Amino acid sequence: MVNRTFVIIPAAGSGTRTGSPLPKQFVELAGLPVIFHTIKAFEKALPEASIVVVLNPADIELWEELCDKHGIESPAVCAGGSQRRHSVENALRYINAGAAGEPCENDTVLVHDAARPFVTKELIKRVVETLENNSQPGNPIGVIPGIKLTDSIREMKSDTDSESVDRNNYRAVQTPQAFPLRAITEAYSEHPGTAFTDEASAMEASGHKIIMVEGSHENFKITYPSDLLLAEAMMKNKTGNQGL
Ligand code: CTP
Ligand code: MG
Repeated sequence: MVNRTFVIIPAAGSGTRTGSPLPKQFVELAGLPVIFHTIKAFEKALPEASIVVVLNPADIELWEELCDKHGIESPAVCAGGSQRRHSVENALRYINAGAAGEPCENDTVLVHDAARPFVTKELIKRVVETLENNSQPGNPIGVIPGIKLTDSIREMKSDTDSESVDRNNYRAVQTPQAFPLRAITEAYSEHPGTAFTDEASAMEASGHKIIMVEGSHENFKITYPSDLLLAEAMMKNKTGNQGL
C-alpha cells in the first residue's frame, strides 16, 4: 500500500487574544478567510495529501457558508475539543479510523495552525523531506521549524525578579510539525493529562528525537489585533492588491 500524508489543520479555537467577534481563522485577508489561505498553501505544496480541518462544532454552519461564498470545496472536517491537544487528538482518531482515507503503517502526519496563513511551499517541503530522510520505522522522530529570537530574553525568578539569559540558546517554535502517524498517535495516548502546546512536546515526552529546521518570520501565528492588520497588509502585497 502507498504511504500517505495527512495534514491536520487545527481551527477549533476561539481566538480570544485577537478580540475580534469572529474567530481569527475566519477573518478575511485580501478577500479570503485566513484558513483558506492556509489550506491553499498545503494544496499547492502537497497536492496528494489528505487535509483534515478541525472545527468547533458551533462554527460548522459558518464554515459551510464560507465555503459556499468563496467557492471552496471543503476538505474533510472533524470536531475539535476544549484544548488544542484535544483538537489534534480528535483529528488523529478520525484519520486512524480511516475516515480521511485508509491509513497504513508508515503514513506521515503534519500539523499546522490555521492561524499561520503565510506558510510557504519551501517550508512545508523542508519539513517533510527532513522527516523522510531521518525517521525510521523502529526509531521515529519529529521535525519542527524554529526561528531565532529578536527580543532580549529574561528568565522569571518570581513575579518581579528576572535574570538575563542568552537568547542564542533559544528558538521560537512554529508549525508545520511532521511526524510518523503512528508515533504521534501513541505519544498523545501515553500522556493523557498533559496540556502540550505542540505535538513536538508530546513526541519528546515519549522519548523521541526532534529535529529542528529553519522556520520563517513570515510564518507568524496571528494572535493579537495588530497581527491581523499586519497580515492584511502582507496578504494584499502578496496577492498584488487584488485579493485572489
Ligand atoms: N485550536 C484548536 N482547538 C482548540 C484551541 C486552539 O484547534 N481548542 C487551534 C486554533 O484555532 C489555532 C491553533 O490551534 O489555529 C493555535 O492556537 P491559538 O493561536 O492559541 O488559537 P486560539 O486558541 O483560537 O486563540 P487564543 O489562545 O487567543 O484564544
Ligand atoms: Mg489558544
